[in-house]
Amino acid sequence: MSVKQYIQENQDRFLNELLDLLRIPSVSADPKFKNDVFAAADFVKESLIKAGADKAEICQTAGYPIVYGEKIIDPALPTVLVYGHYDVQPADPYELWDSPPFEPVIKKTERHPDGAIFARGSADDKGQFYMHVKAFEAMMANNALPCNIKFMIEGEEEVGSENLDIFVKENLEKLKADVVIVSDTHMISMEDPSVTVGLRGLAYMQVEVTGPNKDLHSGTFGGAVANPINTLCKMIASLHDENNHVTIPGFYDKVEEYSAAYREELNKAPFDLEDYKKKLDIAEVSGEKGYTTIERVGIRPTLDVNGIWGGYTGEGAKTVLPSKAFAKISMRLVPDQDHKEIAQLFENHFKSIAPASVKVKVISHHGGAAAVVPTDSPGYRAAEGAIMEAFGKKAIPTREGGSIPICALFQKVMGLDPILLGFGLDTDALHSPNEHYGLKNYFMGIETIALFFKHFKEQATK
Ligand code: BES
Ligand code: MN
Ligand code: MN
Repeated sequence: MSVKQYIQENQDRFLNELLDLLRIPSVSADPKFKNDVFAAADFVKESLIKAGADKAEICQTAGYPIVYGEKIIDPALPTVLVYGHYDVQPADPYELWDSPPFEPVIKKTERHPDGAIFARGSADDKGQFYMHVKAFEAMMANNALPCNIKFMIEGEEEVGSENLDIFVKENLEKLKADVVIVSDTHMISMEDPSVTVGLRGLAYMQVEVTGPNKDLHSGTFGGAVANPINTLCKMIASLHDENNHVTIPGFYDKVEEYSAAYREELNKAPFDLEDYKKKLDIAEVSGEKGYTTIERVGIRPTLDVNGIWGGYTGEGAKTVLPSKAFAKISMRLVPDQDHKEIAQLFENHFKSIAPASVKVKVISHHGGAAAVVPTDSPGYRAAEGAIMEAFGKKAIPTREGGSIPICALFQKVMGLDPILLGFGLDTDALHSPNEHYGLKNYFMGIETIALFFKHFKEQATK
């Protein structure tokens, strides 16, 4: 039997196993789900053993464990390291889901006419890393594993991967590989398969603006005492100029300006602006002047408010001049922008623009570096070869706006360029209610990943 046939014959089981994994609410951000996050780690470990790993272990960290597994067939052969994450984003707000987030159901959509699995984590990243477990099983069962394989599946990606950072640095020998492969990104579409060659970095801040020392009657004091929410809104509004450039001094100092030729190449990727607007129900896109939508998310840094609160938000009306206002603000970064430096620039600037009528506190949450990967490596060529064989098309390299901070670490401390072979679509609603992952994407992904191993062996032993 061929690997492809094996995948076809085991489709139902491959799907049901993933559904079982999706039923575990492994939300890393919320301590309420602590036991579930640990349970998901056990599930991953067991799945690696069942698929044919020589060993699989739960590596404890100061936070959630990292699952490590391996199958070494011959130390002389190339080794592929698979990275993924079993933790998921919180499912809130639950009321906006059409079906419960941890009770997966299969429904058809316009972009997934063969059906998609609706559940938190289906695309990000359980459905995607599990493709690697199943591709591994299929290769093992058919005596067709061409390379050594190592798995490192973590449980803290959605909260910044701090412990993974330490784990990687402490286990360089154990993790030694010739390539890292990650399926945790999008492709353009099933008709236009792509490989991600760039991810943005991130600096995530929180600000607190304090006016008076307690909430006040907004009639008695309104107009005479600074309202911290009014002030915060003004401060936030001033962070962009009329061209949507970020106004923080030094913010663009290290940002690379790309050549016209590179930008032209980037903009050749299929992209339908009208369709993009229609899907999001917006009349116009908005962003930095002088750049296309592809460039705005791919090669430009940005600043966005992720949440803002303060004062009275309950039922009805309460007249109050609040004491405090808060916001969570993230900046997406491009290569060479250092997230710690940017966080500092933000803090200095934000404090400098505060009027004397308020006090400002700024804290820095997690951050991470951007990553750009070359398209002339054996790993990239193997991904291209696998896509050509599975989809019959040449892969389009794309730069995505999301962040996987550990990718820069793979480059820096392991000297490995990660191959970002993701099979999700940008309409899969990652981090949103009704997240889903196409069945066809799942099965084609498994097939393509198995082909990647075959091509990587050829490329790496050339
Ligand atoms: N898988 C995503 C990143 C992603 C999504 C990359 C889509 C490309 C396309 C990852 O799980 C994620 O959500 N990362 C966070 C950063 C992290 C530090 C919380 C992000 O991008 O917001
Ligand atoms: Mn992810
Ligand atoms: Mn995510």
